[in-house]
Amino acid sequence: MTAPVRASDTPFAVDVQQGKDYWWCACGRSANQPFCDGSHKVTDITPIKYSATESKTVWFCGCKASGNKPLCDGTHKKAPAP
Ligand code: FES
Ligand code: FES
Repeated sequence: MTAPVRASDTPFAVDVQQGKDYWWCACGRSANQPFCDGSHKVTDITPIKYSATESKTVWFCGCKASGNKPLCDGTHKKAPAP
């Protein structure tokens, strides 16, 4: 199992639109954070789909360690593993 890369120390605020699907980058390697750009192909990680049920601002996890992927749950505030 490939470990995800910590893409950011903070989450990404995104204005999502009701009815749209978003593919969150779970591997941390995308150049288009927080979304997948296909870079996970060198890993065994796959993106996670987020389906917006309403139009609003959501906070996508950037550290890739959230317990509530693809959304931030505050885990990024813990110090990263040395
Ligand atoms: Fe990270 Fe696709 S580029 S999951
Ligand atoms: Fe990953 Fe907050 S950015 S838990």
